Amino acid sequence: MNIYDSSKIFDLMLSSGYSCVSDLQDADVIILNTCYIREKAAEKIFSELGRIKIALQKSQKKISRGRENGRPIFIITGCVAKAEGENIFRRVPYVDAVLSPSEYYSIPEVVKSLRANPDEKISKLDLTGTKKFDYLVDVKSGSNDCSAFVAVQEGCDNFCTYCVVPNTRGREVSRSFKSVIDEVRALDNGKVAEVTLLGQNVSSYNGVDEDGAQKNLADLIREIDALDFVKRIRYITSYPTKLGDELVALHASSKKMMPLLFVPIQSGSDAVLKKMNRKYTSAQYLNMIDDVLSRVPNAKFSSDFIVGFPTESDEDFNDTLRIAERIGFVNSFSFKYSARPGTVAAKMDGQVDDEIASARLIELQDLLQKNQLKFNRSMTGKTVDVLIESVAHSSDKLMFGKTEYLQTVLCDYDAKCIGKIMPVKIVKADAFTLFGEVAV
Ligand code: 5AD
Ligand code: SF4
Repeated sequence: MNIYDSSKIFDLMLSSGYSCVSDLQDADVIILNTCYIREKAAEKIFSELGRIKIALQKSQKKISRGRENGRPIFIITGCVAKAEGENIFRRVPYVDAVLSPSEYYSIPEVVKSLRANPDEKISKLDLTGTKKFDYLVDVKSGSNDCSAFVAVQEGCDNFCTYCVVPNTRGREVSRSFKSVIDEVRALDNGKVAEVTLLGQNVSSYNGVDEDGAQKNLADLIREIDALDFVKRIRYITSYPTKLGDELVALHASSKKMMPLLFVPIQSGSDAVLKKMNRKYTSAQYLNMIDDVLSRVPNAKFSSDFIVGFPTESDEDFNDTLRIAERIGFVNSFSFKYSARPGTVAAKMDGQVDDEIASARLIELQDLLQKNQLKFNRSMTGKTVDVLIESVAHSSDKLMFGKTEYLQTVLCDYDAKCIGKIMPVKIVKADAFTLFGEVAV
């Protein structure tokens, strides 16, 4: 979601006459879009601000509280801004504005105002539902990418006890059907081939169409499926036990629906799941997996995990290892529990020792990586469809793309393949990358 928001901020600034500079010293405005999900992510913002300050001071600029000496404008938006609010001005006096994740559409106005008043500090911290999308839908995209994100829903009503999202992004709101479809249609620029629909709880999308009728995620996907330029459709993140029959059926009937389902289990222990306020047991989760596989045999699964949640015992952790092994997730993200201000779990008894949590994380990641390696190796010798995205970061003689299961593929550079779905014969695989040859 933050990548999407950042690209929208970028587009907004471009359409307001700004351009992107490659050298920090040349920036008139510095915007940090921030994440509060774990302490590490939140603290990164403050070290990043310090790093920027030192880099600017090295050149010429005095980074004072006010802007009388022409230093750049500093804006913090996103979840850290929402959570820390005006405290940020006290901690970092040269920050000029703090904007919640629903207020970033006003950045061009904020910059205008700050330019006119060098001593001004601006805070806009309300959560305003879907209002921002009204301002974003007509902003022209400056992206060259062949894969695009479109937010359909924001906020969350699940209140998992560890999570700040219901506080920082607010309660669940869905964009109108038309506003989402208009944004998807506007992506028809000869480049975009893949659309990923976004929401913290995307499977609960319930926007209204122009006649006031309720539409769900499956309705949205059917509409997008009918657009010629869209070749691949993904959606993240869904609540594992709220996928719904219609959505699973679409995976079976639509060739454009990608077969990788991101269904975060978080833990394999029923006791921990209950304390997390996740509304399923491990048995219900396994039923969901079996049900999807019975209808979509080529489906694979991806998950988030949290280890070291308060009260998690060795036995609880073993349950997580067991279920991860049993399902064989092909691509996962695992985190050490981080106590977050204002959450229920932060005040729970039984906080787990950091050393134990770190050791569990290593053990789980080892297992997840083995699963991933096994799956990647199973592709060798096969010819698979790859959406070739761009030249590789590591070498301009290589290009990189993604399989239907989001595996990264590297193959020899060929300009005419960029932006296209190509058959690629996989010749080698490690845990993170497939290596192949375009097979035409
Ligand atoms: N500590 C660790 N991980 C967290 N996540 C959310 N909140 C926390 C937290 N307090 C993880 C969950 C979620 C992902 C986006 O981040 O696994 O699915
Ligand atoms: Fe946070 Fe996801 Fe739980 Fe919502 S469902 S509270 S976003 S972890």
